[in-house]
Amino acid sequence: MADNEGFKASKDYHLDVLPKQEGFYVKGLDHCDWGMKNRLSRMFSPRSGNTVMLAFDHGYIMGSTAGLERLDLAIPPLIEEVDVLMAMRGALRSCIPPQMDKAVCMRVTYDASVAKEDMTVGSGLSADVQNAVMMNACCMAVQTFIGSEGESASLENLCRTIDAGTRFGIPTLGVVAVGKQMARDTKFFLLATRILAEMGAHVVKSYYCEDFEKVAAACPVPIVIAGGKKVPEDEALNMAYRAVSEGARGVDMGRNIFQAENPKMMARAVGKVVHEGFTDRQAYEFYCDMK
Ligand code: R5P
Repeated sequence: MADNEGFKASKDYHLDVLPKQEGFYVKGLDHCDWGMKNRLSRMFSPRSGNTVMLAFDHGYIMGSTAGLERLDLAIPPLIEEVDVLMAMRGALRSCIPPQMDKAVCMRVTYDASVAKEDMTVGSGLSADVQNAVMMNACCMAVQTFIGSEGESASLENLCRTIDAGTRFGIPTLGVVAVGKQMARDTKFFLLATRILAEMGAHVVKSYYCEDFEKVAAACPVPIVIAGGKKVPEDEALNMAYRAVSEGARGVDMGRNIFQAENPKMMARAVGKVVHEGFTDRQAYEFYCDMK
């Protein structure tokens, strides 16, 4: 009970100062409630508006992956270089120190593994929203397969996750996967990113492509780009630079960081592009100097 003794009467209401009415800085998400905005602010830097997400969820379909043979050794040194860790709950629980303070984007779907012929069929939910709360996730990630046989099931996973997450103030990241029969072209990415956003995804993960500017413009929420297969470090930085220059709000990169010759410095160089306005050349020079 507050003590009434010595109670100071309130008097300064700053009547001449209007309350701030700025919109929320993360694209398309001004309508969200405070908790969701707070989680999004842990993902997207309030200073740059962008994010560096480190994806190390590959094991959920690929098993042990080069560079991730020992998650407990590979990931902890990279944590301070990135904004968000994207992973499965098993990897987080067993290999990531819980005292770290970065945002977590927890993948909540399972999908067909590389052992299956068609990896777009047979997805389902691997974790529910209560589990995401238990893991203190800032975001839940759902894989989708637009244009493939698994499209409907994956959109069902996406919508159920968005519904559940909205009740708890947890945003959902819709991941665009490209089935074997789909072309990785502007038309496909325009279609897929827009579908996920219209379903209610708060953030969309997609691939950089030709005319990416149009894809980013037509998507009403932020797009973060996937890194894709390992390429030389200067090429990966060039892709990140072009994507951010053309409207991506950051990257969700895996192999091009943890398979780099120096993963820690690569993560830092990516951050220079995403947050500090470095060109790809400047970032690559920085990387070469540091490694
Ligand atoms: C994509 O669907 C999954 O999230 C991957 O595990 C992740 O995106 C791969 O990242 P990268 O392509 O940068 O290695």
